[in-house]
Amino acid sequence: MEASLLPKNRKIRTVSVLGSTGSIGCNTLDLVGRYPEQYRVVALTANRSVRELAEQAIKFDAKMAVVADESCYGALKEALSGTNIRVGAGQAALVEAASLPSDWVMASIVGAAGLEPTLSAIRRGAIVALANKECLVCAGDLVMREVLEHNATLLPVDSEHNAIFQVFDFEQPEKISHVTLTASGGPFYQNSLEEMAKVTPCQAVSHPNWDMGAKISVDSATMMNKGLELIEAYHLFPVSEDKIEIIVHPQSVVHSMVSYVDGSVLAQLGSPDMRTPISYTLAWPERIGTPARQLDLARLGRLDFFEPDPVRFPALKLAREALQTGGSAPTILNAANEIAVHAFLEGKIGFLEISRIVEKTLDAMGSTDLKCLQTVHEIDREARRVSAGFMGN
Ligand SMILES: NC(=O)c1ccc[n+]([C@@H]2O[C@H](COP(=O)([O-])OP(=O)(O)OC[C@H]3O[C@@H](n4cnc5c(N)ncnc54)[C@H](OP(=O)(O)O)[C@@H]3O)[C@@H](O)[C@H]2O)c1
Repeated sequence: MEASLLPKNRKIRTVSVLGSTGSIGCNTLDLVGRYPEQYRVVALTANRSVRELAEQAIKFDAKMAVVADESCYGALKEALSGTNIRVGAGQAALVEAASLPSDWVMASIVGAAGLEPTLSAIRRGAIVALANKECLVCAGDLVMREVLEHNATLLPVDSEHNAIFQVFDFEQPEKISHVTLTASGGPFYQNSLEEMAKVTPCQAVSHPNWDMGAKISVDSATMMNKGLELIEAYHLFPVSEDKIEIIVHPQSVVHSMVSYVDGSVLAQLGSPDMRTPISYTLAWPERIGTPARQLDLARLGRLDFFEPDPVRFPALKLAREALQTGGSAPTILNAANEIAVHAFLEGKIGFLEISRIVEKTLDAMGSTDLKCLQTVHEIDREARRVSAGFMGN
């Protein structure tokens, strides 16, 4: 790496990556590996990917490696035998990995499973790079309260929120007229409802612009991803729900925009490569070089923008309504969506059933107050049970 691209601040930053074997986790370690003098790895975690996790832990000389699935403990222990790397398994070990002292934590576990480990990092006042949007969707108020209470720093990794973070004037939020989240529209943006009814898991995970994990790829295809991001944006930035707009932008070059009362619109642009927003959080408040392709607008030629279609993508409306309803509605939305996406990926339900199951679960459960984290866990469990009951109905 060229010397000028290195961060000026030479203090070594210790980092932990929760969900290190996933798409975000691997991209994070790719960047960490390019700056061996700058970053030291403390803890790495996965669910069941023992081989990948062990390879990463050895390569980066991690202090601890954890698998969430306890049945993988023996295999990980064996893969790391002869090293000094501590091995753990299960929820408590995940939380322990997140609580080990490190300056910076990447929260990139997928789904509500990431909530407790992310909170554990927040509670020790770490810099938390947040990719795991589901934890803000299912418990946004509670998570943000803990961020304030423990003086933690929450940096958005999602490309849209990272873009907003880069152009949002936190000194004068009242001068912001609205925020616009861009959405690629996913692989089926041009398809009819009849065609969408027949899509396979394989087609749904093939995103046109981004190489991502299976769950977020399906969320992107239903556009529930943008609905989850709407809720995420509401919690991250001081803007009301009615000031967060969504626009389809198939090229995924303008990552999001902030419009000001004077008519100015500030946007962050870049090639679609998650290493750009990840690097922004990894080096924050500095910037470091990444291998992301530099944007060549003349070569690109055009940028398109469309209104999202609420008929073919009902998930957007469901998410906005859940945010407007508040209380436990977003928790239910998230849990039902996780169950429905999982069932779709297993070939148990059709693509259009995903949003229908989320809607039925929201209707069946209604909304209650979310007083504490225990309530979040109870609602999450109940919503998973209720939504599973709608499979095949
Ligand atoms: N990928 C992107 O470009 C992107 C962009 C913006 C935001 N995000 C968000 O970032 C998060 C991660 O996305 P991803 O695409 O990186 O997902 P992914 O590729 O599926 O990776 C998920 C990671 O979490 C681990 N994991 C899965 N289930 C777990 C559980 N129950 N307990 C503990 N760990 C578990 C996985 O381990 P195994 O490998 O063992 O399964 C893996 O390390 C999601 O919330 C997503 O919405 C992703």
